[in-house]
Order: sequence, then structure tokens, then C-alpha cells
Amino acid sequence: MKTRFALVLALSVAASAQADDVADVWKAKCKSCHGDDGKAKTKVGEREKIGDMSLPEWQKNHSDEKIRQAITEGVSGSKMKGYKDKLSTEEIDALVKYVRGLQAK
Ligand code: HEC
Repeated sequence: MKTRFALVLALSVAASAQADDVADVWKAKCKSCHGDDGKAKTKVGEREKIGDMSLPEWQKNHSDEKIRQAITEGVSGSKMKGYKDKLSTEEIDALVKYVRGLQAK
């Protein structure tokens, strides 16, 4: 009984640590261009005309695959560089979900 409780506790701690991690990765690596909220109301965002990830339109036009591709390989001809050497597959998976979560409610 006791061990099971400890295991559940450890798992939920791990899960919440992961949610924090992806927000930290976003802040460290993506926010400077895409903004806190994905709306890209940043200097680079305005100059490069980066799309607003909070729009339902944007979300509709971007499949998980497309988002993953942009993060791993970058967007050619833009300032969006690929992160496949800098982020783990787990971090990229988490970012795909994070980007999905940016849609304005
Ligand atoms: C140096 C600025 C910059 C940084 C840092 C940056 N991006 Fe981008 N991103 C861009 C630009 C420029 C585009 C291309 C314009 C567009 O698609 O709106 C883009 C496009 C995208 C797209 C859409 C690709 C498509 O096919 O339309 C996604 C998804 C994305 N970025 C995710 C991220 C994530 C996640 C991070 C952090 C790991 C990140 N970006 C970091 C500048 C940046």
C-alpha cells in the first residue's frame, strides 16, 4: 500500500515537472519571436510577419505534423531554425502540444 502511494506521488510530481519544463523551453527558445502567448507581438514577429498561433485559422492550417516539422527542421527561407540538435524528441512532442494549447479560448 505504502509503496503504491509513493509511486503515484512520484508519477504526479514527474508529470507536473514536465508541464513546467515545456513552458520553460518555450520561454527560453521560442518566446523571443513568438511571444508568451504565440501571438508573435514581438519585434521579430512584426518584422518577419510571424503568424498568430492563438487564431483558430492558424491552428486549422497547421497539423501536428507540420508543427513538428517546423520545430525539427525549421522553416526554410525564414528566421525559424530547426531545433532537432538542440531539443530531445520528448521536448519537441511537448512543444507540439504546447503550441496547440495556445489557441485563444
Ligand atoms: C528567431 C525567431 C524565432 C524563434 C526563436 C522561433 N521561431 Fe518559430 N517561426 C519563426 C518564423 C520567422 C516563422 C515563419 C513565419 C510563420 O510561419 O509564421 C516561424 C514559424 C513557426 C511555426 C509555423 C511553421 C509553419 O509551417 O507555418 C511553428 C510551429 C513554430 N515557428 C514554432 C516554434 C517553436 C516551438 C519555437 C521554439 C522551439 C520557435 N518557433 C522559435 C521565428 C522563430
